[in-house]
Amino acid sequence: MKKNNITIAIDGPAGSGKSTVAKRVAEALGILYLDTGAMYRAVTLKALREGILPTDEEKLAVLAGETDLAFVQAADGTYHLFMDGQDVSAEIRSAVVTRNVSAVSAVPRVREVLVKQQQIIAGQGGVVMDGRDIGTVVLPQADLKIYLTASLEERARRRWLEMKAKGFTGTKEEIAEDLKRRDAYDAGRAVSPLKPAPDSINIDTSALRIEEVVERILELSSFSFPGQEE
Ligand code: CDP
Repeated sequence: MKKNNITIAIDGPAGSGKSTVAKRVAEALGILYLDTGAMYRAVTLKALREGILPTDEEKLAVLAGETDLAFVQAADGTYHLFMDGQDVSAEIRSAVVTRNVSAVSAVPRVREVLVKQQQIIAGQGGVVMDGRDIGTVVLPQADLKIYLTASLEERARRRWLEMKAKGFTGTKEEIAEDLKRRDAYDAGRAVSPLKPAPDSINIDTSALRIEEVVERILELSSFSFPGQEE
């Protein structure tokens, strides 16, 4: 098999560095990167726009099924998510979406729709996917499963720096509260809760630089997929 068929699942709590690391790993291996959190965020955004409550499971399921989601990589390497043809990359990171996304993504039928799409995308292999249930539900046969963690304090610090650069004026404590709340919700839900797959490799990134985490995953990928240099 060739290098570009490897499937890598990266799961972990909010702010553990999943998307930054996953993007770089995908780039280094020349394979696709799929941000599954962005998909749940997009469905949440659409539900908010249409005034559908997170408790209205029936409407949310229909809405998820009717939403067209497409990732496009721009010339500068950044990933953009188009929802029904509209670039929603910035809007899906807004505070109101972040506040509501855990409730929407706890709806089993919303998950069914999105997981199916994620599995189709991964069907060809050659993908790094990040989320909460990738190693456990979406890609249980992934060649490599990583579970990224970091202390709450460090995760809040990272997310705060990221959001400050985008004009956020709130405090680190507010961010920490949001991360804690979402982690509890994501880990406590009945369907596909956030948890490491039994065969995943845990990496605590609290004291590691991004490059070090990427390096470690690349190293692991060459062990778990030894045919990749052929
Ligand atoms: O980037 P951040 O850690 O803030 O979160 P995200 O990856 O954008 O995911 C946002 C939310 O979507 C999470 O808090 C989960 O509620 C949900 N999610 C999920 O349920 N399953 C996934 N595979 C990915 C995200």
